[in-house]
Amino acid sequence: MTDLESLKKQAALKALEHVQSNMLVGLGTGSTAKYFIAGLGEKLAKGDLKNISAIATSKASEDQAIGLGIPMVELEGQSIDLAIDGMDEVDPHLNAIKGLGGALTREKMVESCARFFILIGDETKTVQNIGEKAPIPVEVVQFAWKATQKKLEALDTRPVLRLKDGKPFVTDNGNFILDCHIRPPREVFSLAQTLSATPGVVEHGLFLDMAQIAYIATQTDILVMTKDS
Ligand code: 5RP
Repeated sequence: MTDLESLKKQAALKALEHVQSNMLVGLGTGSTAKYFIAGLGEKLAKGDLKNISAIATSKASEDQAIGLGIPMVELEGQSIDLAIDGMDEVDPHLNAIKGLGGALTREKMVESCARFFILIGDETKTVQNIGEKAPIPVEVVQFAWKATQKKLEALDTRPVLRLKDGKPFVTDNGNFILDCHIRPPREVFSLAQTLSATPGVVEHGLFLDMAQIAYIATQTDILVMTKDS
C-alpha cells in the first residue's frame, strides 16, 4: 500500500469508530470511502456491529457494500444517523468540494439527510480557500449542455466538459459533468446559490456548511477538524 493509500485508510478507520449497532449509515464514494465500506463490512462480518443498514451514494459503493453483505436500503426521506465520505478539498470552516468521482448529486442527497456527516481524507485535501486545488464539479443534464456551459462561463467559472476515454463522462444519473475552475478566493456561498438556480444544472459539488467533523490523516497523526476549531 502506498503512503497515500495508507493515509486514506487511517482516516476511514477513524471515522468507523463513530458507527454503532442499529445505525443507518450513508456510504460515500471514492477511493477513501472504499476503505470505510470495507471496514464496515469487516466489523459486521465479525459481529462487532449488529443491525446496521446503509444507503449508498453511487452504484459503485452499493456494489461494494452488497458484496460485503452490508444490508442496503433506499433513501426515502428517513433520517440517516451518520454519513461518511471523502472530499476533494476542505477549508478550515469544513466547507468542501466533492464530486471528482462523479457522484456529487447522490452524495448531496444522502448526506443532506444525515444527522452527522464526517469528511475523511488525506492531508493533500486541505486548502485555505475553496477552489485552490480542485475544480468544482457541476452535474448538468445532457440536453443543451453547451447552453448551460455558456451560462456557467458567464459566472467566471471556466467550465470544462469532463471526459472519460475521450467521450463525455456520464454520471449514475445519466448526466454530464462540467468541471468549473474558479479563481479563489471567491464568495462560494453566493456562487452555490447561483449555480443551483442555473437552468440545466442538476447539482454542484460545493458542500458548504454540511459536515460536522473532518478526519485528515497526515504523515504523523490524524488531524480532527470541527466547525468550531
Ligand atoms: C466522489 C467524491 C469523492 O468523495 C471525492 O472525489 C474524493 O475521492 P477520493 O477519496 O477518491 O479522493 O466526491 O464523487
